[in-house]
Amino acid sequence: MKLIRRIILATAFLSTCAIAQTGNVARTDKPWWNGAVFYEIYPRSFGDSNGDGVGDLNGITQHLDYLQRLGIDAIWITPMYPSPQVDFGYDISNYETVDPQYGTLADFDKLIGAAHQRHIKVLLDMVLNHTSDKHPWFIASAASRSNPKSDWYVWNDGADANASGITPFQKRYQHEGKVPPNNWESVFGGSAWQWVSARHQFYYHRFYIQQPDLNWRNPEVEKAMFASIRFWLDRGVDGFRLDAISTLFEDPKLHNDPELPGTNDQGDPNLRSQYSDNLPEVHDVMRRLRAVLQSYPGDRVLIGETYTPNVAELEKWYGGKEQNELQLPMDTQPGFGDGANFSANWFRQSLQMSQQVTGEPLIVFDNHDNTRSIDRFGDGAHNVARAKIIATLLLTTRASALTYYGAPIGMVTTTPTRKEDVRDPIGITGWPKQKGRDGERTPMQWTTGLQAGFSSAKKTWLPIASDYRTVNVQSELKDPESLLNWYHQLIALRKTEPALRDGTMQFLDNANNKVLTFRRNGPEPVIVAMNFTDFAQPLAANLASSHIRTLATTAPELQHATSIQGVSLPPYGVWVFKVDGAGDSAGAK
Ligand code: NOJ
Repeated sequence: MKLIRRIILATAFLSTCAIAQTGNVARTDKPWWNGAVFYEIYPRSFGDSNGDGVGDLNGITQHLDYLQRLGIDAIWITPMYPSPQVDFGYDISNYETVDPQYGTLADFDKLIGAAHQRHIKVLLDMVLNHTSDKHPWFIASAASRSNPKSDWYVWNDGADANASGITPFQKRYQHEGKVPPNNWESVFGGSAWQWVSARHQFYYHRFYIQQPDLNWRNPEVEKAMFASIRFWLDRGVDGFRLDAISTLFEDPKLHNDPELPGTNDQGDPNLRSQYSDNLPEVHDVMRRLRAVLQSYPGDRVLIGETYTPNVAELEKWYGGKEQNELQLPMDTQPGFGDGANFSANWFRQSLQMSQQVTGEPLIVFDNHDNTRSIDRFGDGAHNVARAKIIATLLLTTRASALTYYGAPIGMVTTTPTRKEDVRDPIGITGWPKQKGRDGERTPMQWTTGLQAGFSSAKKTWLPIASDYRTVNVQSELKDPESLLNWYHQLIALRKTEPALRDGTMQFLDNANNKVLTFRRNGPEPVIVAMNFTDFAQPLAANLASSHIRTLATTAPELQHATSIQGVSLPPYGVWVFKVDGAGDSAGAK
């Protein structure tokens, strides 16, 4: 099971709720991000302009026309700053320029200019929790206990190896008679504490050893990081996705995290991150950060990597009544399920929950840390049909939407089959239980040509997936039935149908576990129905009494339907239709 997914499953469980009508009242004067479609780009894998086998910024610029044609509103580029690339960019050694393998600052300026010309906003990834161990701040901090940066990271003397209460896990990490001060674990395996002999101390790293956690209790850290944020805001970036944001602070008393039964993929005891995650202090930083963004024109936006177990926890990230923290914390509940969850009831329930937040929901099914949704929700026989349902959930729900490169064409997870081919370090240390995240990071499939049109290099940093001759942009653009064309249609509808953009969301036919139906209200309501089974299914009889008009459907026979009477949804069929003259409340029971 994938790492991040394991974390979600450990904490997440949907609670039941039965509300029929949800969502904000009609929104006017919305900022650009409200209802927007965001598209995540993993720069190593999107487009390689210089033929070295690794994607780069100019490679993104070259493909902006495609993105404009797809109709997305914004791109989020995962870290492209200088980095030793241990965690492929999430270990940053300089926050204020571009890694030479991805290009230059001038290339970045060109990219942002070209994107803005096409009305595409640009978001960067901001990693506030940790830096690379090769960042000059850490190099200085690790050199001695008495340098100006000595308190910029989380240092500790450790505990006496023979002291009472030391766990067997701690004892595995003994240096000079000392062991880590508590049982905290790195998400990527092993103790979260690493010994540095120059200081005779341990430092804390929630992620890889090469990713030391910054000490956010030191005001100088915030000052420096906010300066870097301003650096990019001044260059015109439209916002940030905040990496691992819930882990900014740790319990100052360093209490042990409670142990849970069993061990994880890396063989370490399962823990509940009670004292190393989600400390309330992070919300003060979020409010101050939001104020920085608010001081710039143009509705700059903060998206959060917020894997929360329920909407009550998610709600905290919006900032309560003041709504002064993140505009778009990610709701990962509906999107990171798997085949066992592929039912109308499960999605109805989880989407009903999504609608409960006071701010704008942001839903997401795919990213660079999880098995692609086409594989997770697929059954092997109907994966593309199921992916069209996923696209519909993503793009017709009342929510902003976040997709990931490759998802709109149905790229699959291509996990290495041999340990020696793995690039993601957790796939090496965790093999064969944990094979890492390479599978969801393979190069974008543009064409049927050499290296799928991604690169002219003989060898690309990860191999091109073997299905590229059929799963690629070039072929799918030509095929009206393709997954890509389904994305095109749905994204276009978000722009032309005010109900899809602004309307409240009302779930219909609530006891039906086979067909999920909801209505987006407005002067011209839109009804969306999806058949989650591989048998034809009837629609609820009381759905709409008036004349209807198809806006989009995966079933050609429904294209010209004018009424729902006698109509059934074919296996995995999706139907998006408009009820003519239904006004604001008719037709929905
Ligand atoms: C979350 C990122 O999405 C993931 O790729 C990374 O490894 C960790 N944060 C650490 O930065």
